[in-house]
Amino acid sequence: MFYENSTRTRLSFELAAKYMSASAANVSSGASSVLKGENLIDTAKTIDAMGTDIIIIRHPMSGAADLIASNVSASVINAGDGMHEHPTQALLDLFTITEKKGEVNNLRVAIVGDILHSRVARSNIWGLTRLGAKVSVGAPLTLLPPEISKMGVQVFESVQEAIIDADVVMSLRMQTERQKSGLYPTNDEYARFFGIDEKRIRLAKPDALLMHPGPVNRGVELSPQIADFERSVINEQVTNGVAVRMAVLYLYTRGDEN
Ligand code: CP
Repeated sequence: MFYENSTRTRLSFELAAKYMSASAANVSSGASSVLKGENLIDTAKTIDAMGTDIIIIRHPMSGAADLIASNVSASVINAGDGMHEHPTQALLDLFTITEKKGEVNNLRVAIVGDILHSRVARSNIWGLTRLGAKVSVGAPLTLLPPEISKMGVQVFESVQEAIIDADVVMSLRMQTERQKSGLYPTNDEYARFFGIDEKRIRLAKPDALLMHPGPVNRGVELSPQIADFERSVINEQVTNGVAVRMAVLYLYTRGDEN
């Protein structure tokens, strides 16, 4: 059930299901009876009544996955709910970091950009800190949630300070679809003071990875060239997304073997 646009998450879940010989059907809000007024719970119950084993949901409302999970018998996987969580993105990011760096423990990971509206940031902070990474976040004050330090991260109002000596620099998309106006002056000004470019990435360790969940706004959070930087693992993140989502589907369908 994809009620928000998606390329990576929707397609990789769909391919993961097909690679594992499951049948996958896509429900989008624009082509379903949602447009006739059906509410989320009734739509989920309808899909559940067709014998669906797993419902994968992306929704603009934080808590949407949790809400339907308590109303259906199918397993529910959160594919991104509002500003809350994007758990499988964090899993594929953790897998990519582990693949490249050997382990997550004691790595310095800088998450920079629109932290306020980012479910990717929240899920990654949760996973990274539990695996022993030292996480810093960097953003303009207007894009920093007031209580973010309670998640065990160091908070900086400058990207430069956040990425000094980082092993991993994770840049985030500017989530204009969730923003009220006036949080930053212009894209050009944001890129100048907070974007990651060739000069800023050199503040991180010489072997630092550059990550981004995608889609990238070239020229805003990343300079046009840096997205293709030799230590960018953005495409590997996408590749790993399919395998990680296959693993998640497998774990949800093992039944009594769990
Ligand atoms: N990273 C991510 O969730 O991308 P999509 O919006 O394309 O699924």
